[in-house]
Amino acid sequence: MAGQISQRFIDDLLARTDIVDVISERVQLKKSGRNHSGLCPFHQENSPSFTVSQDKQFYHCFGCSAHGNALRFLMEFDNLRFPEAVEQLASRAGMQVEREGGEDPGARQRQQKREEGVNLLELASRFFRERLALGGGRQAREYLDRRGLSQEIIRDFGIGYAEDEWESLKRHLLAQGISEAVQVEYGLLVHREETGRTYDRFRDRVMFPIRDWKGRTIAFGGRVLGDAKPKYLNSPETPVFHKGRELYGLFEARQANRQLSRLLVVEGYMDVVALAQFGIRNACATLGTALTTDHLQRLFRLVDEVVFCFDGDNAGRQAARRSLQTALPSMIDGRQVRFLFLPEGEDPDTLVRQEGQEAFEKRITCASPLSEFLFEQAAEGRDLKQVEGRERFVTAVLDALKLLPEGVLKSLLVKELSVRSGIDQSHFAGWLEKHAAPEPRQAMTPDAGYEALMMTSDGDIDATSDPGVTVDNGNNRARRRGHPASRSGTATLSLSIPARILHLLLHEPGLVEGLPESVEWCPVEVPDGRLCREVVQLLRAGRYRSPQVLLAHFHGSADGERLDQLARRELEIPRDVRASELENWVRYLERESARLTPVEEYHQLLEKSRQPGALSSADKQRLRELIGKLAGGP
Ligand code: UTP
Ligand code: MN
Repeated sequence: MAGQISQRFIDDLLARTDIVDVISERVQLKKSGRNHSGLCPFHQENSPSFTVSQDKQFYHCFGCSAHGNALRFLMEFDNLRFPEAVEQLASRAGMQVEREGGEDPGARQRQQKREEGVNLLELASRFFRERLALGGGRQAREYLDRRGLSQEIIRDFGIGYAEDEWESLKRHLLAQGISEAVQVEYGLLVHREETGRTYDRFRDRVMFPIRDWKGRTIAFGGRVLGDAKPKYLNSPETPVFHKGRELYGLFEARQANRQLSRLLVVEGYMDVVALAQFGIRNACATLGTALTTDHLQRLFRLVDEVVFCFDGDNAGRQAARRSLQTALPSMIDGRQVRFLFLPEGEDPDTLVRQEGQEAFEKRITCASPLSEFLFEQAAEGRDLKQVEGRERFVTAVLDALKLLPEGVLKSLLVKELSVRSGIDQSHFAGWLEKHAAPEPRQAMTPDAGYEALMMTSDGDIDATSDPGVTVDNGNNRARRRGHPASRSGTATLSLSIPARILHLLLHEPGLVEGLPESVEWCPVEVPDGRLCREVVQLLRAGRYRSPQVLLAHFHGSADGERLDQLARRELEIPRDVRASELENWVRYLERESARLTPVEEYHQLLEKSRQPGALSSADKQRLRELIGKLAGGP
């Protein structure tokens, strides 16, 4: 592993960067008072709720709650990983990235290689496009014609053709000075171990370039013209292509409509392309894999509404159930997911051809909302007239609700479950709490002030002011998402203790100082326990002192998403009791893990008190409690 980028360097870099410059290069900003504002690049909107503070060097969107510093902005906007964003800012500031443990000669090399790779894939893509237009591409042209694709669509999607030859692309790329090894690395050539020979991976196939959201080709999918197997051949995983993260057609959808508000997720390349042919230009496809959290993150970065399209058969319903499970944790308020089931034996490609754009769009409009699909699926195969059937139904719904983040959607679903089952809601609240984690005592009086992460409400970016007052053609769906009002309230319900600790540390990383040396106190089998340990260790190592950089460290992973979720929650614990609250939680966990009886605990504390100053105030209070309990016990 290369050395970590040093915190000192990051601080230095941010100090020498003006976030207003960085963002203005990408988003049109207008100065208003002490801040700058503009249309948010992370969600669709008609009136500006995206604010940049020069003083604080932060951006914040009142519409979608996107927020962060210059690094975070680059990661989100340019779709960069953390080290790449640092590299980019550094080169902008004319600085050389410093890493712990000295220079990292590998990084520059890797960066160079990545550029080389993208360049090479672009060359290949152009080569395939040219082949399609030439004499040898006649059969492929006829095939595309038979499938009803126009020149315009072929051009927009950059569709090409790989000839029926073993070394056509290889020779072409070699002539441009690109070594066989690099061609193999990026999946264009196959290397035969036994013979040492290399040859073109894609032969006699219609070629679909898979592009990242900036339009750079990062991989290919190739379809046979006839019935040979496999029908589709995809690029393998390469330094620039990770199947579980990419969606085919996202770039093209964005090109067709900069103001996307909804994306349709289908299964195949041909589905995306055929829908586009019929004027439905907001479809994208997973690449032969199940839906992942990474996919969802990418989708919700662009739109608030995602419609998943499935075959009507058993496999389709199975896939839909899996997607529901994957989607639940991402369903913060304002986001919408719906499920569209097609008639058996049809896919979007065949269906849109049969019935045309309008009818297909009607299907999209009528797709089941998440709630409906959730209840329907929980009821499947159960006789709700019988008590046992109802019990299973309720359990299935509650199991799903456990995964949902707190918010309006969850409350509504709990209410709906109560109506459908005839059981009072209060029972569910208890159940959800019990199954989330053990609850520590409820101690805190809620802090009245709203506090968005790193954004104090001292006036200049005031998160409590209501952004909803600007009139905007009724498109307030996006506004509701993450609006402070919808986030307050049920904040601590069903968070495990490690999650609460994470939540606190995300708001105030400095509190890590007060934690014990070892992380043994934190149970790994409890939800968020493992992540909590990891974050505590990172913070202790002194690498990350700002929540932003900490979040950036995990960016793009499921953990990152979880931390993001927690960071967005309002922290209701008053500043002056946070440290002692943290201590209480840790003690609670320590007790749990040791499973000490009150007597044992009493003796342990007594032992500890022999060293002067060893007892913390929480220890002392606990000792008093124990003495009271043991003295007056039954
Ligand atoms: P389908 O088999 O449903 O194909 O695979 P399709 O999209 O209807 O294709 P046409 O209409 O026959 O041309 C759906 C998706 O699964 C992946 C591809 O991403 C494909 O688009 N797949 C399928 C593969 O990766 N390899 C295969 O051999 C088949
Ligand atoms: Mn098909």
